[in-house]
Amino acid sequence: MPYVLWSEMFEIGVPDIDAQHRQLLDIINHFHGALKSGESPNHVFATLNALIRYTQAHFAGEEAIMEQSSYPAEKVEQHKKIHEQLVTDIFNLQEQLAGNSKSIVHDIETFLNGWLIQHILLVDKRLGAYCVPGRGAPAA
Ligand SMILES: [Fe+2]
Repeated sequence: MPYVLWSEMFEIGVPDIDAQHRQLLDIINHFHGALKSGESPNHVFATLNALIRYTQAHFAGEEAIMEQSSYPAEKVEQHKKIHEQLVTDIFNLQEQLAGNSKSIVHDIETFLNGWLIQHILLVDKRLGAYCVPGRGAPAA
């Protein structure tokens, strides 16, 4: 059973971003599965590294899309700062994992949930509203 099941509620309406979010969910599920099932530390690290690499590439792609959209400049800056913070957080988790912290599984679940639910469902959805033709930007 995957940790997080993809559903339509994750869709922001921008096909490229939605496809990447789906892939991200797959990698998150893979990483979470490796963590929970007692895989070797090397395997857990490899899946976390894959997650970090994909996340960084995804954020860069999402930022390029938002810069070409009608998403207001101040929102682009805010969104980029949130991405930066998420990358900082994931590197902190990587350090904790290396240090064998006992709370790491809980911390990682909190991070992944916060990321998925708060970031995709709230922040990225607002971006989607600016990118989808005909949907119109939300009221400020
Ligand atoms: Fe984002």
